[in-house]
Amino acid sequence: MQAARRETALGPQGVPNPRSRAVLLCGKVVSVQASRPAAKPVLAPGQGRLTDLPSTSPALPPQECYKAAEQFPDVAVDEVISDTFAMRLLRDPELPSRRKQKMSLHRIAVIGGDGIGPEVVEAGVEVLEALAAVEPGLAFEFKRFDWGSDYYRRNGRMMPQDGLAQIEDFDAIYFGSVGDPDLPDDITLWGLRLAICQGFDQYANVRPTRLLPGLTGPLRPELGQQIDWVIVRENSEGEYAGVGGRAHRGLPIEVGMDVAVFTRAGIERIARFACDLAMSRPRKLLTVVTKSNAQRHGMVLWDEVVREVVRGYPGLTVDWMLVDAMTQRMVNKPGSIDTVLATNLHADILSDLAAALGGSLGIGSTANIDPSRSRPSMFEPIHGSAFDITGKGVANPLGSFWTASLMLDHLGEQAAARRLMVAIETVTGRGESLSPDLGGAARTAEVTAAVIAALEGVNSTSSSRLAG
Ligand code: IPM
Ligand code: MG
Repeated sequence: MQAARRETALGPQGVPNPRSRAVLLCGKVVSVQASRPAAKPVLAPGQGRLTDLPSTSPALPPQECYKAAEQFPDVAVDEVISDTFAMRLLRDPELPSRRKQKMSLHRIAVIGGDGIGPEVVEAGVEVLEALAAVEPGLAFEFKRFDWGSDYYRRNGRMMPQDGLAQIEDFDAIYFGSVGDPDLPDDITLWGLRLAICQGFDQYANVRPTRLLPGLTGPLRPELGQQIDWVIVRENSEGEYAGVGGRAHRGLPIEVGMDVAVFTRAGIERIARFACDLAMSRPRKLLTVVTKSNAQRHGMVLWDEVVREVVRGYPGLTVDWMLVDAMTQRMVNKPGSIDTVLATNLHADILSDLAAALGGSLGIGSTANIDPSRSRPSMFEPIHGSAFDITGKGVANPLGSFWTASLMLDHLGEQAAARRLMVAIETVTGRGESLSPDLGGAARTAEVTAAVIAALEGVNSTSSSRLAG
């Protein structure tokens, strides 16, 4: 919402202060900047009512963020300080000194979930720990949450009632998968994954796809190698809004309805996110997917609002595709696509096609992002729980590793994200240590060991094209 974005200078009482600048986005502080570090903190660390905030408190109001920053003069105030970070400062007064030692500790909530989810996520944790051992200043603290279908069998819920409150202070959520052959999918999905995505308003789902070196997808090589896409999926409403109902249950006239909900605000914010992302990529090319020829209300609003938003990006090349035609363009002219914006359901379908064209569903990765950074974002491989191979030790962990790289990127660890991506590409490029879905015979543990060995041989200055 361009109109809601404004820059202001806030003093400790919220009055203009020439020394500082807070950038507000939709009323939330996204950064606080000062022309020089705060020389005289207004409050001594630990003082003031900020310390009384309950642990479940939502985002801090702008003035409070500013004050939090002022309390810790050791923190360079000209670095971006999110409200989440300001809250972490208050709970963890040691944080500035750790940062001074160039140690960035990231607290990650780990939810393996169902099926092969725990296997690939634990492999990812191993890889992240190996990365922390070789990447100066990088550190993680992982906390496991045993939520999912087994938790449901024991407790009648997919996660505890206060589940969101338990994870809201983490820096990120590393998620496996959800789904169980003995439980209805709508229960498992809405009880955990969607409950987190929607509860934390992670409205931007980002799915990069590339044919990694050494892999052969189903397309002819010269076409497959052109794949370098990032799909932006609206992740909070649309066809997944959960609105609808059932009537006349059990009777011949029974009816079930799902209402796709499109809001101006919801469309506007995801369109802006997609435009910003497309602008950050070399080709500055956005394809907007729609189906407004057949769906004449929500999809027409989608077109209208996206059109208004893209007008604000004169440097961006934009084209439009009906979703059905998009599938054939992805197959026949993959090089004509870069960034794709689509609704929740359309992008769900297109991203499976993208992953398959990229070599395997096993390597697809996803970021569920709250761009306001008020709450943690969630990172998950695109594949599901894959019950046919659960417990056999043959799941492909590369999707989970690529996901970990997206998580590092989001956490501001670009060098580590690149280093991990280069290690993944080194392993695929060699063509050894590939799992069965990629035509190899390597087990999860062998792929993991190969990526860890490659990590140790790659330093953070090596380059990689990080999609997304
Ligand atoms: C995905 C998955 C989920 C979705 C399933 C598990 C409901 O397919 O993340 O793409 O449709 O969102
Ligand atoms: Mg899907």
